[in-house]
Amino acid sequence: TILVLDFGSQYSHLITRRLRELNVYSEMLPCTQKLSELSWIPKGVILSGGPYSVYWDEAPHVDPAVYDLNVPILGICYGLQEIAWQFGKNVLAGEKREFGHAYLTVERHGDGDAGGHVDTLFKGLEDDMEVWMSHGDKLSHLPDDFITIATTSNAPFAGMAHKSKPLYGIQFHPEVTHTPKGKFLLKNFAVDICKARTDWTMGKFVDQEIARIRALVGGKGQVIGAVSGGVDSTVAAKLMQEAIGERFHAVLVDNGVLRLNEAKQVKETLTAGLGINLTVVDASERFLGRLKGVMDDPEKKRKIIGNTFIEVFQETAKKIAEEAHGSDKAGEIEWLLQGTLYPDVIESISFKGPSATIKTHHNVGGLLEGMHLKLIEPLRELFKDEVRELGTNLGIPEDLVWRHPFPGPGIAIRILGEVTAEQVRIAREADYIFIEEIKAAGLYRNISQAFAALLPVKAVGVMGDKRVHDQVIALRAVETSDFMTADWYPFDGAFLKKVSRRIVNEVNGVCRVVYDITSKPPGTIEME
Ligand code: XMP
Repeated sequence: TILVLDFGSQYSHLITRRLRELNVYSEMLPCTQKLSELSWIPKGVILSGGPYSVYWDEAPHVDPAVYDLNVPILGICYGLQEIAWQFGKNVLAGEKREFGHAYLTVERHGDGDAGGHVDTLFKGLEDDMEVWMSHGDKLSHLPDDFITIATTSNAPFAGMAHKSKPLYGIQFHPEVTHTPKGKFLLKNFAVDICKARTDWTMGKFVDQEIARIRALVGGKGQVIGAVSGGVDSTVAAKLMQEAIGERFHAVLVDNGVLRLNEAKQVKETLTAGLGINLTVVDASERFLGRLKGVMDDPEKKRKIIGNTFIEVFQETAKKIAEEAHGSDKAGEIEWLLQGTLYPDVIESISFKGPSATIKTHHNVGGLLEGMHLKLIEPLRELFKDEVRELGTNLGIPEDLVWRHPFPGPGIAIRILGEVTAEQVRIAREADYIFIEEIKAAGLYRNISQAFAALLPVKAVGVMGDKRVHDQVIALRAVETSDFMTADWYPFDGAFLKKVSRRIVNEVNGVCRVVYDITSKPPGTIEME
């Protein structure tokens, strides 16, 4: 395992990601991690970039015990400055920022006084390479016993290495795609210098994870978990089913604001298709009853749906627990399954702390209250695309594996204004047509998320020979890699024309369709 210590750069998690692409297992921990508290010894350590200057009082510093591990260390950007600072304090100059592409010249030392190891980082790479810079400070001198291994016109010490120890620092970011050969550099470090194993594959992950779940839960233990029909919860559920079969109890709460026919479809796929032990609870009326009269406060909708969900889930869990306990095959239900992914884990442990909450994203964290359940999170080491790969590996159908994300509060936050059964019908039918056409046009995977929203206004139209006064559907489709920023999708006119015609013709109560051309920021992806 390669340990990445995170100093808060926006690119830190990409280091872990790139290493895993090289089949090298890697974990990221905050830079303040005490090394004596680690239960494993890494094969190598990478110090990430970060938004600080080592001169600032509040600047974070790595536990100096990292140098006593006697494993190779690579500092990237702030990481390089951190090494330089720890090896000789006054080596930095806070100068003007450098941001963007730069051309790097590699300096090779042959077998000379440095013994050859210093060249390994750039082994097999061209002498000139394009790199991505993003830093404020840079080195003005080398610390003692370090030599230069790369330069740029602006940074004379863009790369350095210790003469006798496997310590390296680079000023640029090898983990981003703007450094085209960066992955080879990371491979040189992880495989050639650290001698990390390159046997991390998804198949291996499945076997390991199933064994780990069985050991954790034991021969009788039972697990409960909510599923939504989305890729994360389905993959987590299938993994549990493979590990402990019927002793995993999946619960799908129909909150009345799922997509058209969704509860029925999810049930079919999960039970008949994947053999998962699933209970579907239709609580639509309770949810819609509580949403009645909530007009213009989206956060209130979220809270109502979140709290009602917890309530229904708890009731169901108690029922299942009683039944399970009564039968002889069973032990107590002691575990709660959550489909937490690595980016969520990083977000909550990162040195920066959790990022500011713009909307309260409801998740099932609060479910634990009063139930004394222990958490089991089989996906917590994986990124989204790895979850998809794992899903395919486990035989989950393609259309589910590639499904667009769908918010917990469902189409309630896509119905602007009051949520009523009739508004739900309109939003659902329009959404169904939009997604059906996107799939038919072969665009579904190019788009990150798409849906129809219902605006709380009426407009005039003419249908047949009659004047109508009906509602307006807004279509939204975005492309994004991280859902933090997003661009609206540039459909061609003929496609939009077709969708608009179908929605107005087929959905009773709609006389106009508009397309949302707001990016995020300043918009958000959802309308509420
Ligand atoms: P926004 O609208 O914040 O959406 O740009 C970013 C991503 O988060 C999803 N989203 C939610 N998911 N509960 C969820 O489970 C929520 O309350 C919620 N609000 C937004 C949204 O669908 C998009 O994928």
